[in-house]
Amino acid sequence: MLHIIEHPLLAEELTKLREPSCPSPEFRHRVRRIASLMVPAVTANFHSTVVPCTTPLEITSGTHVTRRIILVPILRAGLGFLDGFLDLIPQASVAHIGLARNEQTLVAEPYYLKHPPKLSEDEIIILDPMLATGGSAIEAVRSLREVGACHLRFACLVASPEGVAALESAYPEIDIYAGSLDRGLSDQGYILPGLGDAGDRLFGTCA
Ligand code: PRP
Ligand code: URA
Repeated sequence: MLHIIEHPLLAEELTKLREPSCPSPEFRHRVRRIASLMVPAVTANFHSTVVPCTTPLEITSGTHVTRRIILVPILRAGLGFLDGFLDLIPQASVAHIGLARNEQTLVAEPYYLKHPPKLSEDEIIILDPMLATGGSAIEAVRSLREVGACHLRFACLVASPEGVAALESAYPEIDIYAGSLDRGLSDQGYILPGLGDAGDRLFGTCA
């Protein structure tokens, strides 16, 4: 199911981010702030249990988030999304998955996967600013399922209708969280209106 996170602060950050004149340092800061603004919505239904809580005055009841949290940025651009999540969830572990879209075929090709052992009980949030054709997200879910992940969700900054449909069709049980649902895809597989190549803009590797 798709959840569009609607918030005026997020929408304003995204507006400034889309502008081609936004330089890499500013782009990185804005992506980080947007990621933090998304955290409450992305994690709102995490399981929790009631635990005793001792204050300086008395004993009351408190909350414990039951499952370990694993953040999985898709390299490279997902790294730009990571710190904003870690700012609010510093206790999370981080797994990395390396995928690169073949520029001609648009197929996501895996090149790296490193994760903590025993993922089956964990809350796993896959992070990638862009959900375009959906190929990278689908490959990330497939790879993580293969190594035992069960409770997966996907968080992105900008999604295309085509990418959402592809991911929902492949994995209907996965919740997708997006800061914006854009209009569509260009012939080259770029999101329209989008923000260009997120990895290049984050890391200053634009041509
Ligand atoms: C971009 C982006 C996503 C992917 C989305 O990565 O960061 O991972 O494309 O496109 P898709 O939905 O069509 O798969 P890219 O492969 O360009 O690598 P990069 O992050 O290293 O720039
Ligand atoms: N990857 C990006 O970085 N941008 C797009 O628009 C599509 C895929």
